[in-house]
Amino acid sequence: MDNISSPAKKVMLSGIKPTGDLTLGSYLGAIKNWAERAEQYDCYYFMADLHALTIRNNPADLRRRTLEQLAQYVACGLDPQKNTLFIQSHVPAHAELGWVLNCYTMFGELSRMTQFKDKSAKNADNINGGLFTYPALMAADILLYQPDLVPVGDDQKQHVELTRDVAQRFNNLYGETFKVPEPFSPKVGARIMDLLDPRSKMSKSDEVGNGRVCLMDRPEDIARKFKRAVTDSDGERCVRYDPENKPGVANLMSIYSAVTGESFEEIEREFDGKGYGVFKPAVGEAVIEALRPIREEAEKIMKDKAYLETLCRDGAERASRIAYRTLRKVYKKVGLVAR
Ligand code: TRP
Repeated sequence: MDNISSPAKKVMLSGIKPTGDLTLGSYLGAIKNWAERAEQYDCYYFMADLHALTIRNNPADLRRRTLEQLAQYVACGLDPQKNTLFIQSHVPAHAELGWVLNCYTMFGELSRMTQFKDKSAKNADNINGGLFTYPALMAADILLYQPDLVPVGDDQKQHVELTRDVAQRFNNLYGETFKVPEPFSPKVGARIMDLLDPRSKMSKSDEVGNGRVCLMDRPEDIARKFKRAVTDSDGERCVRYDPENKPGVANLMSIYSAVTGESFEEIEREFDGKGYGVFKPAVGEAVIEALRPIREEAEKIMKDKAYLETLCRDGAERASRIAYRTLRKVYKKVGLVAR
């Protein structure tokens, strides 16, 4: 152990693909709660740009999104001094360990990944090798940092399970090398749904969606999206929390509650007898005010090229120190000649 004097914090790591714009859903559901995690855990967050290559991207867009995502995390309150924030491709150890772990991950295992099956069904014209071996790279992302916990959504649990299997397999062959991490379901904040389709999650995706509010949206666009949000068709037209029968209203209430801190009962009382014509713009306004400081801060960071560069460099340096310690061990164990 490096740090005998102070009891080490548990290590937590997560990667986020820069393939879409961060949304109100990602903020209220997750990122908002991350700032305080740093007190308890040693946190690593990286922009998974190598993973983004499994689908076709416009190169300029990918570059911009990667930096913008980093800027937005900082703007959301993730302090780069207290968290290790970096771009995956800036730490080549990911690709290097990724290759090694490819050789310890079985074809059969990769074939069973439901995400691979889903994605190859959706991208029938581009079922590339990377899409198939992606979980081995993800295992490398994780195992390099010897984390205790990997907070992931349900869609990624299977990949973390595979990571554990690969880590155990490697440890059994070569002796204790990797910590076997636990998947961890972070306490979700509000589960935010699409404004036009309140039965499905507000997703970060490429298409411009009027049901999706992004962190960088202009206030006028946010206002418009909330005015057009679907409410319900039960004809009751009152603000009441009933997710089963009034999913649209329930979603707007969850959003309002998350940004104002009001409970559902308080919201029902506040809008009693007022109807949706008052309620929807009020939610829009509350969201505009909640997102304004984040957008402004992210824009400021994006304009400050020198700061952005320092941010990237410092994060990558910090990450590399840990990552290469693991990689050197692995290279030695499998029989590669020391460089
Ligand atoms: N596969 C994850 C996703 O699609 C992103 C990711 C890549 C990740 N590497 C990771 C998440 C390591 C957690 C840990 O969302």
